[in-house]
Amino acid sequence: MATAVSVQHLQKRYGPTVAAADVSFDVSDGEIFGLLGPNGSGKTTTVECLQGLRHADEGRLEVFGLDPRTDPAGVRRLVGSQLQDSALPDRLRVGEALRLFSTIRPGGRPWEAALEEWGLGDQRRTAFGDLSGGQRQRLFVALALVADPRLVILDEMTTGLDPAGRRVAWDLVEAVRDRGATVLLVTHFMDEAQRLCDRLAVLVGGGVVATGTPAEVVASQCRSVVVTFTVAPGSDLGFLRSVAGVDAVEQDGGGRARVTGAGPLLARVGHALVCHGLEPIDLRGELPTLEDAYLALTAGDPASPGQEEAGA
Ligand SMILES: Nc1ncnc2c1ncn2[C@@H]1O[C@H](COP(=O)(O)OP(=O)(O)OP(=O)(O)O)[C@@H](O)[C@H]1O
Ligand SMILES: [Mg+2]
Repeated sequence: MATAVSVQHLQKRYGPTVAAADVSFDVSDGEIFGLLGPNGSGKTTTVECLQGLRHADEGRLEVFGLDPRTDPAGVRRLVGSQLQDSALPDRLRVGEALRLFSTIRPGGRPWEAALEEWGLGDQRRTAFGDLSGGQRQRLFVALALVADPRLVILDEMTTGLDPAGRRVAWDLVEAVRDRGATVLLVTHFMDEAQRLCDRLAVLVGGGVVATGTPAEVVASQCRSVVVTFTVAPGSDLGFLRSVAGVDAVEQDGGGRARVTGAGPLLARVGHALVCHGLEPIDLRGELPTLEDAYLALTAGDPASPGQEEAGA
């Protein structure tokens, strides 16, 4: 698949602070790519360099083959973005802002539809300065999408949104991707990354420590799968120790059993139990989540105190 965004060995300092030490990743055309990482790990710096809002000290950046340093106007024609620190003139009305942004590119979407999609119909004539925090955030994401850009950059899109707003945002971002756009999504929400991202990169301390699909990133960090069930107290479960992939079998006094290991453990343990005449109705498998993998990857980062044991 063609490359939409390429970041190779990006370095960026602010005085003595190293914001990006060595950031490299590629985003394929038509995918939703997530950038995850602790506070201060260089995510906003990276997406701002990609838009030509900041200049990289070193490295090679491309957006659909254009260099944001030498052709920032060309890049901006292709990109719709919601920045982490956005603002609009206080007196600009919601409807006016959407109408204005929808005309940036020919073929943009009807701005009135965006107003309704984002639940901002009642605020059409409300001035930006009079919107609530969540309403402002809805407006910024709507503005990023309304001109139907080839690349959408969303920096903490759902921060401050209520649960309904989050669902609207997720559905609309998927719809944008399904229309052929590429999405670069900075997020701290693991459920959001798991649901939306085709692939993602985790940044720690200004460098990429993992890339891949959410499932690949989880598999690279967390081998362990847990299976639990209840049997009659004192049942002999020793036979489970010889099931492929099983590392440990524990049973408490109430007959609650916990099997840890790797691979397709639920199927194998279930099969072994049935073969031994045991059919627990509460047999469950617990797979490691993206949050588990993220905590393992970021353990020890100064911006993530208290996580040192997550990777143990
Ligand atoms: N304009 C600036 N001047 C000086 N230092 C800056 C500036 N912008 C960012 N930094 C520093 O660069 C580092 C990376 O910041 P950046 O905003 O890229 O992080 P981030 O990953 O987006 O964090 P967050 O999750 O908090 O948004 C931080 O240490 C930050 O303090
Ligand atoms: Mg940021």
